[in-house]
Amino acid sequence: MRPIQMVDLQSQYQKIKTEVDNGIQEVLTTAAFIKGKAVSDFAESLQKYLDTKHVIPCANGTDALQIAMMALDLKPGDEVITPSFTYIATCEVLGLLGLVPVFVDVHADTFTIDPKEIEKAITPKTKAIVPVHLYGQSAQMEEIMVIAAKHNLYVIEDNAQAIGGYYTFSNGTKKANGTIGTIGCTSFFPSKNLGCYGDGGAMYCNDDTLANQLKLVANHGQSIQYKHDVIGVNSRLDTIQAVVLNAKLKHLDEYCDARRKVADKYDAAFANHPNIKVPARAAYSHHVYHQYTMIVSERRNELQIFLKEKGIPSMIYYPIPAHKQKAFEGKARIVGDLKNTDWLTDRVISLPIHTEMQDEQQAFIIESVLEFFK
Ligand SMILES: Cc1ncc(COP(=O)(O)O)c(C=O)c1O
Repeated sequence: MRPIQMVDLQSQYQKIKTEVDNGIQEVLTTAAFIKGKAVSDFAESLQKYLDTKHVIPCANGTDALQIAMMALDLKPGDEVITPSFTYIATCEVLGLLGLVPVFVDVHADTFTIDPKEIEKAITPKTKAIVPVHLYGQSAQMEEIMVIAAKHNLYVIEDNAQAIGGYYTFSNGTKKANGTIGTIGCTSFFPSKNLGCYGDGGAMYCNDDTLANQLKLVANHGQSIQYKHDVIGVNSRLDTIQAVVLNAKLKHLDEYCDARRKVADKYDAAFANHPNIKVPARAAYSHHVYHQYTMIVSERRNELQIFLKEKGIPSMIYYPIPAHKQKAFEGKARIVGDLKNTDWLTDRVISLPIHTEMQDEQQAFIIESVLEFFK
């Protein structure tokens, strides 16, 4: 049995090695490190895959969120509603731009933002909602889009963890995660469902004017060379990373299926266990299990140590919610008691899940978790 890791990128690489190695070699030979053909090829392929009009690659998922806010011309003091139960990047960019994060609660079973809490948080200063498709499962986009339309708000989907998944509307229409709101933002961090071998990210949207604005902001606010129309940033996807993403995008559905199979086995083993609550699968979301995150009792930290001693890594995503981070003291507004957020923070634990999981590895993880609770 191979050593167990949260993600096994090395074994995954072996299967696409020739294509990746040849592609990287070509970039080295041609020295097209910046804006090489692989970057535009990738944007086009991802656009087709997602069935969206525009894909704008950038340097990482945090930049994607920041550029999205800048392109929408959000101003200091504008309020943006987002869950506190998320990775810090979602809220960090708000603080950076002087926007006010308005933290609301998530559902305790799906871990995603609760639309009822969004409604309660809206004020005349509210400009946008940032739902996070946490752990690979979409937030309730249909309800969120209705609220956004009613109050004239932008919706920026934080799709860093859910690329490859899709949302099913009540009329049966299916749309790729990240393509429903005003702008979708993705990260290609190596461990993501579609990850490169360094940093990378992208934004997607269906509006031509907005796509131009996103491109402008990502490129120093430059419309033509050395003519700067707005304050922008420098955020590009490297050609070498695009080579990796081109090789992996072809396998994204297969990668997501492999993750779902691992999740199925965990679910089957832990469903009905008195001390474990398996992650809920919402009917509207095709879950792509960026993480397999379950809820356990207060003995969560003991379980983590027990697993570690057996050579099984696990992670707590995330040990401190955004509304309790020092960085946001006095800089955010909190709506409601965030009861579910605090409750989950003390109880979630993520087990290893990836495309290369061996049966014997997973059997050992399951056996060990069950042994702990005996
Ligand atoms: C929910 C969420 N948002 C944003 C990001 C930021 O992406 P990046 O690390 O590429 O900047 C991440 C990445 O970890 C994430 O998980």
